[in-house]
This record gives sequence, C-alpha cells and structure tokens, in this order.
Amino acid sequence: MPVVKFVNEKKEIEVPEGANLRQEALKAGVNLYPGIHKYLNCRGFAQCASCRVLITQGQENAGSKGILEKARLVCSFAYIGHEQTMRLACQTQVLGDMTVETQPPLNLFGDNFFS
Ligand code: FES
Repeated sequence: MPVVKFVNEKKEIEVPEGANLRQEALKAGVNLYPGIHKYLNCRGFAQCASCRVLITQGQENAGSKGILEKARLVCSFAYIGHEQTMRLACQTQVLGDMTVETQPPLNLFGDNFFS
C-alpha cells in the first residue's frame, strides 16, 4: 500500500492504491484547509481550490490532472511557481508513495512569477 507523508503535520499514513488524497487526509485528521475554508469549501468538487497541496516527492505517483483541476489551478495565484508540484487534494489519486505539504503559501514574488 502506498505511503503518504504529510510534512507539516509530521504524519505518515498508508492508503489503498488509487485512493483519493483529500479523503485519506481528512480520515487521518490532516487539516487541508486554511482558516475558514475548513468549513467553507466545495467538498471535493474542484471548485474552491482551498485543498491545494504541494507534492514535493513522488509527483509521478499521483494520478494525472483532469480538465477541471487544470482549469481551477490555472486560475489560482498560488499555482505560479508550483506548476510541477501543486495539486488539488480532492482531485488527486494516490498511486504510490508521496510526500505532501499542506496549505502551501502564496509565491507572488517567487522565481517564476515574472518570467
Ligand atoms: S475541496 Fe474544493 S477544490 Fe478541492
């Protein structure tokens, strides 16, 4: 079974292959949502983008991005500079081991913003 490491929470969980990252994180008590978004979120329908995470290791073990996820991420400032690693947890299928950073900060002045 794949292992998901949540670095901020210092938590490691085993999940069934093909599991949904948001559902497994919530089951394990990992807080994906910043602030009020804990209560005000789209419940996994790729509409609010508040379940953004960075997959810092094992990106290749995540299912591919669907059209809804791509569209939602492109509309998010937080995506800038994290195009390779940022995913919506609610749209991410876990196919192998990965390391996940929850609630990533905005990167408005990051290396890739003005390029
Ligand atoms: S929960 Fe809203 S986009 Fe994932």
